[in-house]
Amino acid sequence: YYRFSHPQVLAGKQVIVTAGGTQEAIDPVRYISNRSSGKMGTELANAASLLGATVTLVTTRPEVQPLPGIDVVSVMTVSQLQEAVESRFATADVVIMAAAPSDFRVAKPATQKIKKVAGQDELTLQLVKNPDILAGLGQHKKRQFVAGFAAETESLQVNAAKKLNAKNVDLIVANQVGQPTSGFNSNNNAGTMFFKDGQVIELPLMTKSQMALKIVQEIGERLQ
Ligand code: CTP
Ligand code: CA
Repeated sequence: YYRFSHPQVLAGKQVIVTAGGTQEAIDPVRYISNRSSGKMGTELANAASLLGATVTLVTTRPEVQPLPGIDVVSVMTVSQLQEAVESRFATADVVIMAAAPSDFRVAKPATQKIKKVAGQDELTLQLVKNPDILAGLGQHKKRQFVAGFAAETESLQVNAAKKLNAKNVDLIVANQVGQPTSGFNSNNNAGTMFFKDGQVIELPLMTKSQMALKIVQEIGERLQ
């Protein structure tokens, strides 16, 4: 990483990046989560910093350490993630939602560890929907550039286009998950950028840090 070798297209900009899968408690020792490792989000935070931005990384995976100088806010649940992002949104220029928030949370997490009961062979957890943070940002944004990710296992383009419109965002980076060579927990990724104005940019298989630089560069150029 050499700061001087990158065009400073994000100089003077405040950038918020979210990373990692959230955890929703079932009881004090168990939770619901997903396979997001936080690597892509952390690389995006690094890339934004290298391009000159002041960066806040809101992450469920603070052990995936970003570059020095990046402000790290550690969260666990969707509710904490939402609070951390929304309270900083007014002064932000760019928000990139690379986190994987749980779509549902446990309606009533148990206050004590759930014990097995003799003769009880099934357990039902009731889930309630979490707020869509990205859609909320899309609804309230003024001058901010708001970007989201779409991890899909099928119909990448159709699903990404739907999310771009439904959430009123400026960019959706779509990536195919369930591939052995990219995606969750891999150091590599591939995808497609769908911009609000209809522009489409392919991101062939590359390292997550290369992909992050490309994404952040494209965003920076659109802020000029
Ligand atoms: N997202 C969010 N809040 C949620 C769920 C998702 O902000 N409660 C954001 C993610 O960070 C990502 C984008 O929305 O940037 C798309 O997430 P994804 O899970 O692909 O889409 P969903 O809208 O949740 O739809 P589905 O899971 O049904 O495909
Ligand atoms: Ca989802």
